Amino acid sequence: MRAACGVWVAWFSVLLFVLLGDHASVKGMTVERRLELRNKVKEMFDHGYQNYLRHAYPLDELNPLACNGRTKDDNPGNWNVNDVLGNFSLTLVDSLDAHAIMRDQPEFEKAVRLVIDHVHFEQDSRVQVFEVTIRVLGALLSAHILATEEKWGSRIAWYNGELLLLAQELADRLMPAFNTPTGMPWPRVNLKYGVLSHETEVTCSAGAGTLILEFGVLTRLTGNATYEDAAKKALLRVWAQRSPLDLVGNSLSVKDAKWYNTVAGIGAGIDSFYEYLLKAYILFGEYVYLDIFDAAYRGLMNAVKDERGLIYRNVDMFSGALAATWVDSLAAFFPGLQVLAGDIENAIKLHQVYYTIWRRYRSLPERFDFQTRAPAIAIYPLRPELIESTYMLYQATKDPYYLEVGEQIVMDLEESTRVQCGFAALADVVKGELDDRMESFFLSETLKYLYLLFDEDNFVHVNDGNHVFTTEGHFLSLSYDLLKHESDTRRPDNSTRPPRPSSQPMCDRYMPIHNSNATSYYLPVEHSPPLPQDEIIFIKHLIGGTQMRPFEFKVEPHDGSVYQSARIVKSADGFIADHFAGVQFQVERDPTGAGYRVTKMNGKDVQPTDIIKVPQKGISFLTSPAKGDPLQPSRSPDNGLSHQGARLEAYLHDDNGEILQRDFMLAIAQFGPQMLPSEVINTSLVVLDDERDVEYGCHPFSPEDHRLIQGRLLFVRRGGCLFAEKAIWAELAGAIGVVVMNHVEPFIFPMASGAEQGLDGPGLSNGVDTISIPAYMVSGRDGALLVREASKHGPVKVQLRALDGIEALGAVDLQIQFAGRPVLNVMVVQEVREGHTSREMKGPPWRRWGTRGSGLLDPGSGFGCLMGCGIAATQTCCSDVRL
Ligand SMILES: *[C@@H]1O[C@H](CO)[C@@H](O)[C@H](O)[C@H]1NC(C)=O
Ligand SMILES: *[C@@H]1O[C@H](CO)[C@@H](O)[C@H](O)[C@H]1NC(C)=O
Ligand SMILES: *[C@@H]1O[C@H](CO)[C@@H](O)[C@H](O)[C@H]1NC(C)=O
Ligand SMILES: *[C@@H]1O[C@H](CO)[C@@H](O)[C@H](O)[C@H]1NC(C)=O
Ligand SMILES: *[C@@H]1O[C@H](CO)[C@@H](O)[C@H](O)[C@H]1NC(C)=O
Repeated sequence: MRAACGVWVAWFSVLLFVLLGDHASVKGMTVERRLELRNKVKEMFDHGYQNYLRHAYPLDELNPLACNGRTKDDNPGNWNVNDVLGNFSLTLVDSLDAHAIMRDQPEFEKAVRLVIDHVHFEQDSRVQVFEVTIRVLGALLSAHILATEEKWGSRIAWYNGELLLLAQELADRLMPAFNTPTGMPWPRVNLKYGVLSHETEVTCSAGAGTLILEFGVLTRLTGNATYEDAAKKALLRVWAQRSPLDLVGNSLSVKDAKWYNTVAGIGAGIDSFYEYLLKAYILFGEYVYLDIFDAAYRGLMNAVKDERGLIYRNVDMFSGALAATWVDSLAAFFPGLQVLAGDIENAIKLHQVYYTIWRRYRSLPERFDFQTRAPAIAIYPLRPELIESTYMLYQATKDPYYLEVGEQIVMDLEESTRVQCGFAALADVVKGELDDRMESFFLSETLKYLYLLFDEDNFVHVNDGNHVFTTEGHFLSLSYDLLKHESDTRRPDNSTRPPRPSSQPMCDRYMPIHNSNATSYYLPVEHSPPLPQDEIIFIKHLIGGTQMRPFEFKVEPHDGSVYQSARIVKSADGFIADHFAGVQFQVERDPTGAGYRVTKMNGKDVQPTDIIKVPQKGISFLTSPAKGDPLQPSRSPDNGLSHQGARLEAYLHDDNGEILQRDFMLAIAQFGPQMLPSEVINTSLVVLDDERDVEYGCHPFSPEDHRLIQGRLLFVRRGGCLFAEKAIWAELAGAIGVVVMNHVEPFIFPMASGAEQGLDGPGLSNGVDTISIPAYMVSGRDGALLVREASKHGPVKVQLRALDGIEALGAVDLQIQFAGRPVLNVMVVQEVREGHTSREMKGPPWRRWGTRGSGLLDPGSGFGCLMGCGIAATQTCCSDVRL
């Protein structure tokens, strides 16, 4: 992509923009494009975050449709909200480290200040221990680390550990939940009053087993072992309840550790239990976590993963029997975890399954059923998991395919979820309906991972070491002096590590199918996933096709001008629109990947072969200089189809003597009449190509020639005299039209009356406007075919078809782009001219053509009269020879 693709803001506010076209080939992702996408993601983040600050803060979340804030309510059944909103400015807190990771130090410092000054946990809020741990505690710890440790480059000079104190205060308010017979915490706790009576004792495995990173880091940073011990005990207890298949179920009792729901899998309720086992090992370096992870992962590979490695099923933890036919969108995080585990091959497969679902809905339905091949729960609450995996896979493979996945996701989020006050969840991915909610993880994870995907040099992945992202996307690292000594981290029985499951590690065996090149993303074609083709096809089959919900948008003029509703008319090869302002479009990605195609325009279906022409004037508002004019000079068009006036369908003999129909595009001259809309004329084309120099048509024709030409189309070569003269001589010979063959191979252009260099015909300036037959140009390449046919078989049988109603003139070297890629079926032309639909036409077909000229002449008569009288006098002068 060229840098001029730029101007992302304009790009998405208009959703269409114009760029020079050297059309055809789509490049891979250049560094410029990658950075442009990164900056776009930052702009999205700012849009969400600043709107939160403006309309919602100090409340917990932004209501992006109502443009106000929300916090907890009094309805205990509203757990979806009250589990996470505790009246502690959740979105502000959850976003803390995102500023640092996106290298926005001023905003980072401002946010830290706001949290220190205004966030309090002395709240009568009954919240979920798990949710508050990952969203709030994790954010505070992450921001503390980033504000403290020099090496991350975001140290805050004035910062004095205040966030750590807040974190500790919060953890102390969560600690009462751990007071259970099993050590697994009550799922909910009131921050002010502790665990309430009549609380449910049922916790999900993830809820009990996903605390170790935050509580462990808190312990290391404060020196108080209570937190880490509690979290570790809870995690080990969940594992202790595992089945003989080394699976854990979905939920169990914190009182007696009895399973309540025995469905195992990698989705909701279990997901991050696996995640924290491996990440705890990475962060703390203690084998106990890795050993459990290895065993647990092996359990999943044996009993949960299907044979092809594409579906991770929901099964009964004891019998391994299939328990449900759906998968959760939450489980889209799993490929990222597999990357960390070194199982790249399986990661690629599972990621592709989820991305194929994404492509179909431009988002991930919360639950997708493989039996019905449809969403089982159709919401998309702006979740990050697929993006997280995309980021991890890109880091592992550097395959630009994953950058393109990210690009698509950026566009889909912009298109489907962006609203005036932020980004709104989807209430229904099929219908594209919005829900008035922007959960805090959209900023803290979804956009953070997208940013990291495109930010090649970000400190979080250029540095090696024991840092991780929590399950809420918070960056945690521990300096080595906070790690335990080797003797503490060794296995108690000194045993050697159990062998890793057979499917891993695979890093060293990973060979991307594409020639990926870490420093250059410039590849000639759109990438496909690094999977064998049959696997890709199978996945599509599994998901039930890849028909995407198309992009729909309206083009808003941004220069404030008032446009009347666009006139869109059918033409011979598609449509002509006089402008695009206010036009409702539907576009879809072209299957070739070369760009997009308009599939609907103001509700009209546009067929794949249709070309839509729009005059340069009709898109000028898209290129207002205020937005950084994306218009640029460019090369000539390289095909003969860009200037059209009519279509000539000719019947040609092939080498075997068979007759084939062939279509030729003709450019209509700037003078003379044109055909009626929808008019079709059966005639033949006369080619006078002999020794008499008549092929240029610059002299009167002989009476013999007249007989041949009369009532037919005359074919002449370019050169020797003015185009208009050729038309006049042809008309005088009785031709119903003239076709001039250009001498430059594939080009045609609209001929001007005086447009043959250095030539000027006496009196022609008067005569031109009275020419009553149409003049066309055919390209040299096409003309040669016609000459060849005529030389062998005589006059060529043809049908001449008009273009309807409005006529488009002269393609210009401008290209319409959508989302940085060409819209393949839109052509920008110089001008759109009104046709003559309402004119009253009389006489035989060929006589009805009089439009520009007065149409006074019978072919072959009155030329002298015309030349002598001039336009003003033609009516009277020549009236006696009228039909
Ligand atoms: C939220 O917290 C503020 C103080 O931080 C308090 O004034 C307000 O009443 C609380 N709102 C609710 C709904 O608890
Ligand atoms: C450590 O934290 C626990 C839990 O809040 C608290 O009860 C205990 O007093 C703390 N210990 C120290 C030494 O501060
Ligand atoms: C484990 O190894 C350490 C040192 O290598 C040794 O002191 C200890 O006795 C061993 N423990 C067992 C259970 O073998
Ligand atoms: C990577 O790109 C550089 C320069 O763009 C090129 O010289 C090199 O051959 C490429 N490597 C591969 C493996 O294609
Ligand atoms: C023109 O010719 C085609 C067949 O070549 C025929 O179907 C059509 O009816 C003709 N049209 C007129 C107006 O004669």
